[in-house]
Amino acid sequence: MAYRRHCTPRCLVPLLFVLYVFLSIPVQIPAGTEAQDSQLSIERPNTNLANSDKFSSVVRDLRTARIIETGSLTAILPVTSSSLPTFRDTLSPFLGSLSCVSKVFVVCPESLLPQSRASIRELMGLVPENLNHPDVSLHPWRDGGDPIAGVLRTAAQASSKWILLLDDAGFDGLSGRTRDMLLCPMAADLPVGPRGVMDDRCVPPSPEMRPASYLLPPFTLPSALIQMSHSDWSDLGRAISLSRNDRLGGIVRGHGDPDVNWCNGVCHSDSPTNHSRLFSGAPFPPTTSRRSPPGHFVFLLPNIDDLHLVLHLLCKLDHSGHFLKILLHSDPRPASGVKSRSSCYLEYDTLSPGRYVYPMIYDWLQRLEREVDVIFIVDDPATQSVKNERATLVRIPPEDLMHTHWMGSLSLTEWTNWNVPNIDVSVITQDRPQSLARLMTSLSQARFFGDSVGLRLNMEQSSDLETIHMVGEFEWRHGSVFTHRRVIHGGLLPAIVESWYPYSNHSYGLLLEDDVELSPLFYAWIKMGILRYRYGEDRDQTNQLFGISLYQQKNIELHPEGRKTFDPRGLFVKHGVADPSTPYLSQIPCSWGAVYFPEHWREFHDYLGARLSESTMEIERIVVPDVRSNNWTKSWKKYFIEMVYLRGYVMLYPNYADFVSLSTNHLEVGSHVKERPKEKQEVFRLPLMKLEESWQLLDLPRGTLPRWGTLPVLNLTGFLSGLEEIGR
Ligand SMILES: *[C@@H]1O[C@H](CO)[C@@H](O)[C@H](O)[C@H]1NC(C)=O
Ligand SMILES: *[C@@H]1O[C@H](CO)[C@@H](O)[C@H](O)[C@H]1NC(C)=O
Ligand SMILES: *[C@@H]1O[C@H](CO)[C@@H](O)[C@H](O)[C@H]1NC(C)=O
Ligand SMILES: *[C@@H]1O[C@H](CO)[C@@H](O)[C@H](O)[C@H]1NC(C)=O
Repeated sequence: MAYRRHCTPRCLVPLLFVLYVFLSIPVQIPAGTEAQDSQLSIERPNTNLANSDKFSSVVRDLRTARIIETGSLTAILPVTSSSLPTFRDTLSPFLGSLSCVSKVFVVCPESLLPQSRASIRELMGLVPENLNHPDVSLHPWRDGGDPIAGVLRTAAQASSKWILLLDDAGFDGLSGRTRDMLLCPMAADLPVGPRGVMDDRCVPPSPEMRPASYLLPPFTLPSALIQMSHSDWSDLGRAISLSRNDRLGGIVRGHGDPDVNWCNGVCHSDSPTNHSRLFSGAPFPPTTSRRSPPGHFVFLLPNIDDLHLVLHLLCKLDHSGHFLKILLHSDPRPASGVKSRSSCYLEYDTLSPGRYVYPMIYDWLQRLEREVDVIFIVDDPATQSVKNERATLVRIPPEDLMHTHWMGSLSLTEWTNWNVPNIDVSVITQDRPQSLARLMTSLSQARFFGDSVGLRLNMEQSSDLETIHMVGEFEWRHGSVFTHRRVIHGGLLPAIVESWYPYSNHSYGLLLEDDVELSPLFYAWIKMGILRYRYGEDRDQTNQLFGISLYQQKNIELHPEGRKTFDPRGLFVKHGVADPSTPYLSQIPCSWGAVYFPEHWREFHDYLGARLSESTMEIERIVVPDVRSNNWTKSWKKYFIEMVYLRGYVMLYPNYADFVSLSTNHLEVGSHVKERPKEKQEVFRLPLMKLEESWQLLDLPRGTLPRWGTLPVLNLTGFLSGLEEIGR
């Protein structure tokens, strides 16, 4: 290690530029079209704040700013009836000696004056005589008056040079380092704190400085910026930003706060301007369960053009509070700043041009200060040998870079499981070579993001020569190919059920009959779903999930009376589901493009074996009351429906606008289907998500797949239900 630390200047790179740039150009969308707005609704551009050059100069100034003098800070701490019981804990951090605070103004409603006074007396009685501690004084405000205005009015009366504004939660939910930063802040001429809002969205705290239109407490600022007249936090921020030519209302900065995701996605649904909420504890409702912590990501990209292609991904990760280090390892051009349209702020390193790129990359990686969680690599000869024992390597082919936007929604846990699941594609065909050709073409055009995907081609005994020939000729670039042909005609049931069997608990099977056609983005949808619900934060709760459908449901076939059209968005609107664009869970297994999970598929084999042997019941027995599948004969789905019904299992379905789907069905003449009128084919055919529109994958509530517990659940006949209800 020591060797490395000392040798760099001579043997390795003059590793030069560190560039501060604002970047945000949606790259997937043809430049200059109006369509940009729809994409940017995910990361709205910051239109009038913090122009890039100005913000970088603010950051430069702050990096070198001194710490304020001891004793020059007054803390304004409100107490409310809900915070009174824990008030002693809230106040105690101010009584330690390691702080610049000389005065604490406790602000309380008049009615709480006696209790507050008693509480302070009691606490001060516990402080040793010889300990230096700040003066604590009480400042009542009129009951019924606006508490935030009360806090700001009290702050305006302080005579010290600096002010620390808090809400009644004090430092609750913050890390020790962030608390220390607030107790002895740097001398900045604008508000600095861990919680801010930009364009009505929360800005996740990070050690890097981020611009904000206003801050929420706790934050520090020069007392000169506070006037009696401010009505609330955003009003204060607005007044400050108007007085500055960079239009900043504050700087967000935090250090590893436990609630780094405190604002994750909440801002745009719950208006941050609801001030009555801001005062009682956390400004936004606390997140209800575990969140993934922030991660350290390294991006090894050839050049600035590649950086542009993954900008959306980078900005999304940055916004979620992750730490990013970026190296452009083969950019021959002198880099320069990129014109900004949003608040995404990225730094990157470059290597000086040279012949031996890999040693320089190696050295750069060695000199990173932190342990890295994920290394994102564009597949390239220079990076082929990159290895890391601890970090997860994610290798993406250059041609897929511009379709990686969806990866920005993954949590750290999901990223670190990137290489764990194995997805096999299993095609079942008989004698429809044209259909098969269409399916195979759509498969070869799909994007697999560097994953190795095994392909199984299963032919029936009665397969025609053209089909057999086609299977033999097919070129598959993404993994191994396995071909299979029956010698005794089996029919569709064994053809499907035996076409795939899981190899391990991380093995997933995508079953495709040959009249299905795929969207080039189908794999991204599957991978995103598997990572979220099988490997993400909610993985322990999701064992009822047996698979992920590519196909959107537009009809429900299981009603006893017959097929009915189905519109999930309409149904969700009618029942007041918070965001009708949410994907949902349905008990119906899909046979027109769906991936099945290993445990459930194994269990199905066992169930089917027992059911067909009639060892426990006669074959005619009706298991699920009142569903049309009871009348289906020789159908694997009929039995899968029985198992799903008995076990309370569900499948995840997409729910994109206008039934845009990841697979569609052409309903061609085959073993089940004797004749198909055109109209009937149209009932089932769906528009496929286009490659150029890969940003659509994140047209999801809050731009990400929802938490497990918030997904709507439909039963076999398409009625809204609950997981407990169907699981009984
Ligand atoms: C603000 O939030 C409170 C508490 O959740 C709620 O009762 C109130 O209706 C909200 N006000 C507005 C204007 O949304
Ligand atoms: C695979 O999953 C099954 C069912 O959950 C479990 O019983 C089995 O132990 C797992 N196998 C391995 C190797 O983890
Ligand atoms: C479906 O099966 C039930 C009972 O097995 C029978 O009564 C009914 O007529 C069948 N319906 C159709 C449409 O075949
Ligand atoms: C689905 O739920 C509806 C309404 O609760 C109920 O009438 C129907 O029987 C359920 N379907 C099945 C197959 O359980």
